[in-house]
Amino acid sequence: MTPITYELKKTCKQTGARLGRVHTPHGSFDTPTFMPVGTLATVKTMSPEELTEINANIILSNTYHLWLRPGEDIIKEAGGLHQFMNWDGAILTDSGGFQVFSLSENRHITEEGVHFRSHLNGEKLFLSPEKAIQIQNALGSDIMMALDECPPYPAEYDYMKSSVERTSRWAERCLKAHERTDEQGLFGIIQGGEYEALRKQSARDLISLDFPGYAIGGLSVGEPKDVMNRVLEFTTPLMPSNKPRYLMGVGSPDSLIDGAIRGVDMFDCVLPTRIARNGTCMTANGRLVVRNAKHARDFSPIDENCDCHVCKNYTRAYIRHLIKCNETFGFRLTTYHNLYFLLKLMEQVRKAISEDRLGSFREEFFEQYGFNKP
Ligand code: GUN
Ligand code: ZN
Repeated sequence: MTPITYELKKTCKQTGARLGRVHTPHGSFDTPTFMPVGTLATVKTMSPEELTEINANIILSNTYHLWLRPGEDIIKEAGGLHQFMNWDGAILTDSGGFQVFSLSENRHITEEGVHFRSHLNGEKLFLSPEKAIQIQNALGSDIMMALDECPPYPAEYDYMKSSVERTSRWAERCLKAHERTDEQGLFGIIQGGEYEALRKQSARDLISLDFPGYAIGGLSVGEPKDVMNRVLEFTTPLMPSNKPRYLMGVGSPDSLIDGAIRGVDMFDCVLPTRIARNGTCMTANGRLVVRNAKHARDFSPIDENCDCHVCKNYTRAYIRHLIKCNETFGFRLTTYHNLYFLLKLMEQVRKAISEDRLGSFREEFFEQYGFNKP
């Protein structure tokens, strides 16, 4: 029995977006939602107490990174990832496939798994579907991801087809290897790039294996925005309506809204936390580069429409100064604001769905954010 269930509350009459709730062994969360990324068992600069304060209720972490450091055995010995990092909310772990493809060198894919070298010390490593599950079982995440291959964009049809087929065989091996089915749910990942026939084939294969949730992978890999939207338009209708749908690696405000409109429930991305450490903030009026010289004497908040702790108490001038001096407190402030902004945006999206006006909300938001085109 899977411990992960989805409750569909309603769909937006204006757009078809879904309002729902996902239940996990570490609490429930409303969807559509955004999951902050905590790759190394920490959402960079944020304490778990602060994550709770901004209403994050599920975070993402990475099998690949925790396998390399500190090693899943240490985390298991600590009592699992929740105990290790003192986070009592839900945790989703990515399987490591995507990280191996994006970070490591000399990778070589075989039917058995992926051979590659560690991005830290060049050590030879091997990740198989069984290994990815064994690590995630040791971590004890609430939602685990199957090992998949995420080919680069663009990829040839024939390559993509054989990759989709291998990802389906790996998904089946992942299910067989899963030993904690009462405590952890395993999601399958639909691949197929921009090819409708392959997305269909991938969805059909994975749905026949009956996962408790499905992700859409292979997007946000450099394709234009309209390609992502088109792929979502033909992929989400293939997915079961009684299970959560997760779009991997997407976190820009416009894509979150456009994904929700196409029936996606969960998103994750390093974007808000990564740009924060670079001195860039997300605001209702678009991106604000707070490290720019023009903010040196600007004693207004990052976003005057934002009611987060940072915007209520700190000025652009101060935050710019900290970031220019590489003071860690500056990175904490921008990270806190950006995550607050995205979580608040998702709350507004859910409210708009409940009132059947997500299409109107999108228009207003895009106008103010500075995207005038669909
Ligand atoms: N993160 C972003 N995209 C992907 C994907 O296609 N697969 C996996 N496993 N993780 C991702
Ligand atoms: Zn703020």
